[in-house]
Amino acid sequence: MNKRVVIVGASHAGAQLASSLRQEGWQGQILMIGEEPFAPYQRPPLSKEYLRGEKNADELLIRPAEMYIRHGVELLPGRCVRSVDRTAKRVLMEDGKSFDYHKLALCTGARVRQLEVPGADLPGVHYLRTLADVDAIRTRLVPGCRVVIVGGGYIGLESAAALRKCGVEVSVLEVQSRLLARVTAPQVSAFYQRIHAEAGVVIHTGWSVVAIEGEDRVTGVVGADGRRLPADMVIVGIGVIPNVELASQCGLKVDNGIWVDEFASTDDSDIYAAGDCTNHPNRLLGRRVRLESVPNAMEQAKSAAASICGRQQCYDAYPWFWSDQYDLKLQIAGLSEGYDRVILRGDADAGRSFVAWYVCGDKLLAADCINRPKEFMVAKQLLAGALPVSVERLADESLDPKLILKI
Ligand code: APR
Repeated sequence: MNKRVVIVGASHAGAQLASSLRQEGWQGQILMIGEEPFAPYQRPPLSKEYLRGEKNADELLIRPAEMYIRHGVELLPGRCVRSVDRTAKRVLMEDGKSFDYHKLALCTGARVRQLEVPGADLPGVHYLRTLADVDAIRTRLVPGCRVVIVGGGYIGLESAAALRKCGVEVSVLEVQSRLLARVTAPQVSAFYQRIHAEAGVVIHTGWSVVAIEGEDRVTGVVGADGRRLPADMVIVGIGVIPNVELASQCGLKVDNGIWVDEFASTDDSDIYAAGDCTNHPNRLLGRRVRLESVPNAMEQAKSAAASICGRQQCYDAYPWFWSDQYDLKLQIAGLSEGYDRVILRGDADAGRSFVAWYVCGDKLLAADCINRPKEFMVAKQLLAGALPVSVERLADESLDPKLILKI
């Protein structure tokens, strides 16, 4: 029998898994099913170049469409899997069809968290996760229009930066007392607040949206204190929720993500999972994590492909992330939870380049590097080697970054 791997989900993890399977020598069929009507494309540019109109949809493709044909990957875009029958080893489609699998890979990603207030379904209220989302936003953008962004995280701030370049009036409403509170220290939040204010973005922190107003289209946003902000468009970026329903419906363990081991295997040895939807152990961090990032999706997909082909490749990397806003490249190495000190290298109160090192005892936990590629490389080396750090060296701007490594 010609064995078949079915990949559910056609984004970063799914695309990587398909090509890694061929690299690992998988000779059987590969069927990749994705609910969006496109071949897998890169999501990070959606809130940046694609929103600014500087890239077209073809330029976002992770691999050219003919590559899937050449590698014998059958791609079913615009199709949804309804359920998994683990006993029959079969996926059942929404349209009534079904496909048998020898091995199944769940690369189902995450979906946007919805804003649940009256008026949130009005035309003119958008989310930003898919190509179709950004196409809908772009058709309505005209210079001078007033866009209110709900959420001061990655999506909200990257969109704010892109929209200012398009000549749009932008306000950001963040429910927490500071921007990027989930991922950075107060010093970094304050830096981004200054940068966005300098670019003309109006930022309201501690602002809770209780309603969106409008008759047949959005006209404004109402806050908990009764304040109103006029809006021609609202973009909501308040986080994502992992797509775990297929896994939980077929009885796989799920707890803040699909539960997998370090080889991307679920508790069913014929089912693997990779990407934003998984909860996996990380030996370097000494705990389980669910990560929302492209590098995580790709590296974990490589482990899943190896496992499917009978080879063990532990997924064991330090997390890293990036965010581009204006001329600023933020590169984050590690996870900043549990630090006892934040050490700054460079001036966060003026200028556009510095590092925030997150330290616990004499160990580095994470670093936020803003326009600091050399320090980012150093941070990755410090983390990978679990090397002790010297606070003086981390902070000393006169020291060549490479010398930070020398204790
Ligand atoms: N009103 C205003 N702000 C809110 C609300 C609300 N009702 N609910 C949540 N927020 C804020 C959070 O406090 C947080 O600052 O929205 C922000 C969401 O930020 P993230 O968690 O970073 O999520 P988001 O920006 O949507 O990005 C989701 O997409 O870029 C990718 O993988 C990346 O993890 C990221 C994901």
